[in-house]
This record gives sequence, C-alpha cells and structure tokens, in this order.
Amino acid sequence: MTERSADEQNEGPCASASTTLIDGTQVQVQVQGANAETRAKRALAAAAAAATEETERPTSSGESMGIIGESAPMQELYRLLDRIVATSATVLITGENGTGKELVAKAIHNRSSRSSGAFVATNCSAFNDNLLESELFGHKRGSFTGAVGDKPGLFAIADTGTFFLDEVGDMSPALQVKLLRVLQEGTFMPVGATQTKKVDVRILAATNRDLMARVREGYFREDLFYRLNVVALHVPPLRDRTSDIPLLTEHFLDRLGERDGQKKILSRQAMRCLGAHNWPGNVRELENEIERLWVLAGDEALIDAEHLTPVIADALTRPAPKDSPLPAGKTLHDMVDELERSMIDRALEAAEGNKTLAAELLGISRRNLIRKVQVYESGEGKSS
Ligand SMILES: Nc1ncnc2c1ncn2[C@@H]1O[C@H](COP(=O)(O)OP(=O)(O)OP(=O)(O)O)[C@@H](O)[C@H]1O
Ligand SMILES: [Mg+2]
Repeated sequence: MTERSADEQNEGPCASASTTLIDGTQVQVQVQGANAETRAKRALAAAAAAATEETERPTSSGESMGIIGESAPMQELYRLLDRIVATSATVLITGENGTGKELVAKAIHNRSSRSSGAFVATNCSAFNDNLLESELFGHKRGSFTGAVGDKPGLFAIADTGTFFLDEVGDMSPALQVKLLRVLQEGTFMPVGATQTKKVDVRILAATNRDLMARVREGYFREDLFYRLNVVALHVPPLRDRTSDIPLLTEHFLDRLGERDGQKKILSRQAMRCLGAHNWPGNVRELENEIERLWVLAGDEALIDAEHLTPVIADALTRPAPKDSPLPAGKTLHDMVDELERSMIDRALEAAEGNKTLAAELLGISRRNLIRKVQVYESGEGKSS
C-alpha cells in the first residue's frame, strides 16, 4: 500500500461549514480532501460539544476542597482556583491573618497534578536568616557548628510536589536572591555545598503584607515580586463575606460535635452578634470563638449570646461613630494611639498574656505586637 503525503490528502474537494457556539462565538471550518463535507461537519460538532462542556462545567464547590463559603467573593476565588490547579504557575496568595491562605494553598496542591508529591510549608518569619537558609536549602555535614550530618532541606523534600512559603514578605534580601534563583532556574545550593541541586517544585507564596509597598520601601526585590506574583490570589477578609458566617459556624460546630459526640446550635441572638462583629482575626478568630462557646456552653444544646466574648456580644449594641461627640483637645493621632493601646491591652487580657493568641485576635503578627508593646512600655508614645 502506498502512503499518501499530507499534501496529497489536502488536495481535492473543499468544504466549509459554520455555526454559532453556545457562548455566541462564530466558528467556521474549511476542510479539503476526501470526504471534506463530512469531516467539516464533524469538526464543527466537536467544537460545539467542547464549548457546551466548557460553559456548563460548574465551578468546583469550595466544600469539595475543604473550603467553606458560598458568598460572591468566595465564588470568584473558586473560579480562579479552577484555573490555577490546571497549571504549575507560581501563585502569590494574599489576605489578612486567618483568612484561609494556607487552606487555599493546600487545596491548590491537592487538586493539582502534583498531589502525589509532598506539600511542604514553611513560615519564613519564624526563623533567623541562617536557620531559614539551612531549612530551605539543606546543609552539608560540618558546614556550621551543630551540622552533624547532611540535611536535605525543604526544597529537596518538596521535589515534584508543592512548596508553600508563608510570610514570604519577611524574607531577608540575601535569601530573596536565593529564592529568585530557584524560581528562575530551579536550582539551589545547600549550605556548605560546592554544587547546585536541581528541583522540580511548584511554589506557592503567601503574605498578609502589601508586598508591592514592601518593594517600594526597598525591603523586597521587585524582580522576585514579579516572579512570585505570576498569578495573584486574594483571600477576602471575613467582614467582606459576612453571609458565610452561618455556614462557617455550622461547619465548626459540626466538627466539634463529631469530636465530642454532641450536638449544639447557636441561638439567633448569638448568631446575629457574630454577623455584626467585624472579625479582625477573620476565620481563625471565628473558629476560636466557636470552640470557646462550645466549651463554655457545657451541656447546653443551645448556645446563647451570654457566652460570647464581650467585644462580640457588644457588636450589635455598639453606638455608631457619628453618635460620639469629638473628644476635646485630642488629635486623630492621640485617639488612634489610645484605641491601639486599649485594643492591645484587651487582647492580651483576653489571651491571658499569650502574645501569639493576642496577636491573632488583633489580626497582626506576633512580632508586630511585641514591637508595639515595647514602644508603649518605653514610653515613646505613638507606635508605627
Ligand atoms: N473558608 C474556610 N473554611 C473552613 N475553614 C477555614 C476557612 N478559612 C480558614 N479556615 C480555618 O481557619 C484557620 C486559619 O486558616 P489559615 O491558617 O489557612 O489562615 P491564614 O490566612 O494562613 O492565616 P495566617 O495569616 O495567620 O497565617 C484554619 O484552622 C483554617 O482551617
Ligand atoms: Mg498562614
């Protein structure tokens, strides 16, 4: 049998056909050669079927990814997630403390083709520079005091998987250069090594800072910012999706119920207070509040508003700012300063002196809280 060349196949009769797809797009196909008309019709049918599937494919539900929330901002997030999981693009996840950035990062990994690899997470602000370098890139035995053996480093562990760099905005300039190299070339140098290593790692980074502002202030490399910000994903604060509060509350109550083999629900008044609070600590604050209520309610199956943290219980009755007269002889700075001090005091009191918890309640980093407390204690007045 003689084989026909592609050119020969393209000789002969020519047929064209056109149709309008479900999304309104006009498609025209032109086919030349044997059975041109049938092949043109088949091509059109395939295009129409693909367009229909694309249009009708529902956005993944958040719940299937362990993310609770059906509000419009969350639907927007799920739509973007659907596109992100199909690629290996680097993603910069932004959002305030406790909004669910790590949860979203895990969802991206679990739904991606890398899910059989490891999901490795590290918090860049939790280490000093030297430790973080060794943590990320590993070290050779004897490269520094205490390096008693070779250590692989998290990038090596995350090979073929996903590496989640949390609080990336806190990384030192020296490490930023090294991270840039991983992003550009996929290579890094373990501490004390003489040869680079190569890895195939998808990087997801998160920050609760305004990273572009950090770039402008000279703390963060602009080239690294653009390498990380290939896709930007913003997780909205809870106050912008208050319609999700009942769902989240139910989710946390169900989880506690499974743990303790009990069932409890919230009174309407308590739920109204949750809806009126502005949640500076976002979903984590809500999660903690629900667990607190669960414990305080004891054997009661109906959790009433009396158990709420005072600042949340007062959310409904707090007077609107316009009802308060302007304080005489005080500048805006004085008032902001006073409010900040009072919130810090209240948070520390509520957290019984635990700075990590107090920082979470305030929606700021622990480091920032400690700095502010130091400024107040030194009597320097208004902190930054
Ligand atoms: N949409 C959500 N549905 C269910 N649980 C959530 C959701 N968002 C956050 N959580 C829960 O709230 C807590 C905080 O979430 P996570 O650690 O992902 O937030 P984060 O943005 O990384 O916080 P931080 O900035 O403090 O690191 C976790 O226990 C997480 O499971
Ligand atoms: Mg986090």
